Amino acid sequence: MSLLNKIKLDNCPQHIAIIMDGNGRWAKQHGEVRLFGHSSGVEAVREVLKGCVDLGVKHLTLYAFSTENWNRPKEEVDGLMNLMVETIANEVDELNSNSVRLRSIGDESKLPEACRNELNAAKKETLKNDKLDLILALNYSARWEILNATQNIARKVEKDEIKASDIDEKLFESELTLSDVPDPELLIRTSGEYRLSNFLLWQIAYAELYFTDKLWPDFEREDLFEAVLNYQNRERRFGLVSEQLVK
Ligand code: FPP
Repeated sequence: MSLLNKIKLDNCPQHIAIIMDGNGRWAKQHGEVRLFGHSSGVEAVREVLKGCVDLGVKHLTLYAFSTENWNRPKEEVDGLMNLMVETIANEVDELNSNSVRLRSIGDESKLPEACRNELNAAKKETLKNDKLDLILALNYSARWEILNATQNIARKVEKDEIKASDIDEKLFESELTLSDVPDPELLIRTSGEYRLSNFLLWQIAYAELYFTDKLWPDFEREDLFEAVLNYQNRERRFGLVSEQLVK
């Protein structure tokens, strides 16, 4: 029986963020090159997307390429970019049939032109979909995002548009890339690593963290449901004590 039956659909996270890790190790275990691991990871992305649609999750953010990933061997970086272009192009129809809107965060200007073009075309084609936002973090890092926001705010102070004392959480958040999206309530990382790797550091201040030993290409819809069940069994206190929470 699917774990979906055990999930309270009225208490699902609205936003799930995932650090998809372990493609390289999965490929090695299967005697294949690293890129084979990445392309096998695309199937796990499809699984998770379907799972999010089943659960009514509104936003799914996937860490697809970090600013640090450029330091990998050129062959792997080029292969990953080609995979991105190919996958985005191939999946647009499927995204449309599930009413999924494609978005991205990160410094797109450094992505290869083909990748930028494909991404922008797919964003345009899926713009009107409203069931689920699929947000790809591409050439993203949280420190890059926080620095960017800080510079934008500093410029406004320089131009006397705001005062330093006007800077509060709300104003700061308005300069972040996901300012219109609620913070993720659940962050999942696969492959048995217990790190955040510069991902959404501001937004996950109160997220529940879920780690699994499964390598990303092995992650299936039921694994997503297991993570959500685990989330539903936690008490989210936001600094309060148990007795203060309305049950
Ligand atoms: C981390 O595993 C994975 C990545 C850096 C890339 C993830 C990208 C995909 C699954 C492609 C998805 C494509 C779209 C369009 C969403 P790793 O290489 O760090 O694994 P390792 O730690 O075992 O070496």
